Amino acid sequence: MIVACLLLILSGGVAWLLLQQKTEPSTPASDERYYFADSNYRGIRSKFATRQSAKERSSIEYPITAIPNIDQTIAATIDQHDKEFIRARDAGSGLVEPMTQAISYQVTHNTDKHLSIVVHIKQDTHGAHPLAAAHFWTFDRSSGSPITLSDITENNERDIAAIVAAARQATGATLAQRKQPAINLEEAITADTLQQFIVTNPTTIAWPFAQNAFLPSSYGEVQITLTIAQIAAHLQHPLAHQLFTVPAPATPQQQTATPPNSSTCPQQRCAALTFDDGPGPHTGRLLDTLSQRRAKATFYVLGSKVAPYADQIRRIHTDGHQIGNHSWNHANLSKLKATDIRQDLARTNDAIHGIIGIRPNSARPPYGASSPAVQSTLAELGMSSVLWSVDTRDWADRDSSVVCHRAIANTRPGSIILLHDIHSTSVDAVPCIIDGLTKQGYHFVTVDTLLGKMAPGTTYHAG
Ligand code: NI
Repeated sequence: MIVACLLLILSGGVAWLLLQQKTEPSTPASDERYYFADSNYRGIRSKFATRQSAKERSSIEYPITAIPNIDQTIAATIDQHDKEFIRARDAGSGLVEPMTQAISYQVTHNTDKHLSIVVHIKQDTHGAHPLAAAHFWTFDRSSGSPITLSDITENNERDIAAIVAAARQATGATLAQRKQPAINLEEAITADTLQQFIVTNPTTIAWPFAQNAFLPSSYGEVQITLTIAQIAAHLQHPLAHQLFTVPAPATPQQQTATPPNSSTCPQQRCAALTFDDGPGPHTGRLLDTLSQRRAKATFYVLGSKVAPYADQIRRIHTDGHQIGNHSWNHANLSKLKATDIRQDLARTNDAIHGIIGIRPNSARPPYGASSPAVQSTLAELGMSSVLWSVDTRDWADRDSSVVCHRAIANTRPGSIILLHDIHSTSVDAVPCIIDGLTKQGYHFVTVDTLLGKMAPGTTYHAG
């Protein structure tokens, strides 16, 4: 009884192991023992299986839910790991220290309908690295089957892709924050990797990966957590509503009432269309398209084109778009002396100011070519440098459908898309780009709206 109580309090395989060491009888008939105890989780008991010998110290805690399918699924996964451990144990010989294994579980969501559970596996078989694996599921109690990402999205490819993209972004941010080298997230995190998930509370979905998942063991554990609000637009399916508190998606009316701003963009999937090298003969048509579709854009204009296309410059501004500086006549600024850089940028700013009364707060250096002198000149002028994250290569492929597909395929929330409004094929691609991405829930905003307050002298290229 005392042992059972202690177990309840400590409820850890390692603690149990220590206890067993103290109380081990001298002549065990078999080196494997079983023990049942209540767990800390309502309606769930634990079965402990332990083995002790000169070669190993093993402690496994199986959850017993009394739902056969659930118990079997979890036990099969645990036993697979245990088999590998036993294989390593039997292959090892002449070791000073016993190999150790501790398998335990954690319940993160436990209702009448659903159960989320994580199994933690730690094995030290004296290999190069101790193994720390995790397996996790969310089960439907009535069927005993796991509920997958495909189930909660009704297998909607677009919704799955959006959730995968959000998970990649969150993981990239976690690795960057920990200052760990980037990994190929496109390869590591896929719809398959994310099929099993856990509910931690009704407003978050999580994937508590351990070292076995997709990272080098030295990276430690990576729990990917997304708030439901963040991906609400992709969880508008009945099963998702049973598991999570899913806010209603914004209706078109609401969208008109509250246009995206820099603080709502992270939830609203914003992207910035940018047009370089103009204005030109096709800019008027482009402005018609943008205004029909209520899309905002940013124009990185050449100073030399401002006077000849003064009407377009004025309309860009009055239509609510943003104007940036793309140099006077497309010089490679990184090859100029500081005084020439300053003169080129200031002259262009002045030309724009002459028409709309505002000097741009950002520049896009031609060819994306910068230098310390360019950066410090921009800082002096109170300007930031804005590059791009989606290159449509529209100057090379004068084919609207190629340009459109390239833009759609590569855009992620926060993307800055590079186009040139001096090519009629690029302007022709814009309706297709806007319509395609609008269907995916995107809003088109200016660079200012997308990035919020920018720091002068800093370069931005966004997601
Ligand atoms: Ni250019």
